[in-house]
Amino acid sequence: MEIYKAKVMGFCYGVRRAMNIAEKAAETHDNAVTFGPLIHNPQVVSRLEARGVPVVNDLNKLNNETVIIRSHGVGPSCYNTLKCKHLGLVDATCPFVRRNQEITKKLVADGKQVVLIGEKKHPEMKSVSEWAVGKSFIVETMEDVDKLPHFEEAHVVIQTTFSVALADELIGAISRKSDKISVHKTICAATSERQQAARELAKQMDVMIVVGGKNSANTGRLAEVCRNEGAITYHIETAKELRKEWFKSHYKVGITAGASTPDWIIEEVFFIMEDMNEMLAMEDINLDVHKG
Ligand code: F3S
Repeated sequence: MEIYKAKVMGFCYGVRRAMNIAEKAAETHDNAVTFGPLIHNPQVVSRLEARGVPVVNDLNKLNNETVIIRSHGVGPSCYNTLKCKHLGLVDATCPFVRRNQEITKKLVADGKQVVLIGEKKHPEMKSVSEWAVGKSFIVETMEDVDKLPHFEEAHVVIQTTFSVALADELIGAISRKSDKISVHKTICAATSERQQAARELAKQMDVMIVVGGKNSANTGRLAEVCRNEGAITYHIETAKELRKEWFKSHYKVGITAGASTPDWIIEEVFFIMEDMNEMLAMEDINLDVHKG
């Protein structure tokens, strides 16, 4: 088998920045906690916990901790709670997510109708919609668009990690329900670059290995992109999930990884695949010897 890596994969700017901020906070604060998992990667979250930075989900239970806000950001109620409870704040919100929050906040303050395109349960969308103070619609599917009322003018803001192709489809459908539409192209370049690189590689591969948290939206999207290109696709979190059988009768295998997947996990996957490759080659030689 031949193993290829996607041209762009792994940690994006916002996640790397959040990791650096959290690691620094772990060194400088005895009582740092993250509000929700820092990023959507269970292995990274476990590492931080081992360094004394646990995850908390309820700010009301805290007393004197320093709270790290994750890359997906939070709504105004969280900042208010931190202030009221006199808790420390280390803000690792990705600047591109912050931009989505600010655009939304300003549009609502100017009396505009906001339509958010994104996953309703995704923390970024929850944080952005909170900045819209209940005055926005969230659409994730074509069915959601069907349920929208007619708009004189719709202002669209898109989740930074949403699928480029699906966002285009939804924008088309929203524009048919609005006299006028204005779209803020807020899908982050890191997301579109990783999807594009995965697409280009998957087109030429028999099998694609997509590495990243099972709870990571952008990693899930990469797996979807690879499947759409016809490659047999496996979404794994760590090298432990790799199976030699996947590569037995396949020649070209590609690797890609989500924006929240650290380099050490990608490297481990690559090395284990190389080992499996050698084992498969040995099995072939033994088979030939037995036949001979
Ligand atoms: Fe930020 Fe884009 Fe990464 S929004 S967290 S740089 S995928």
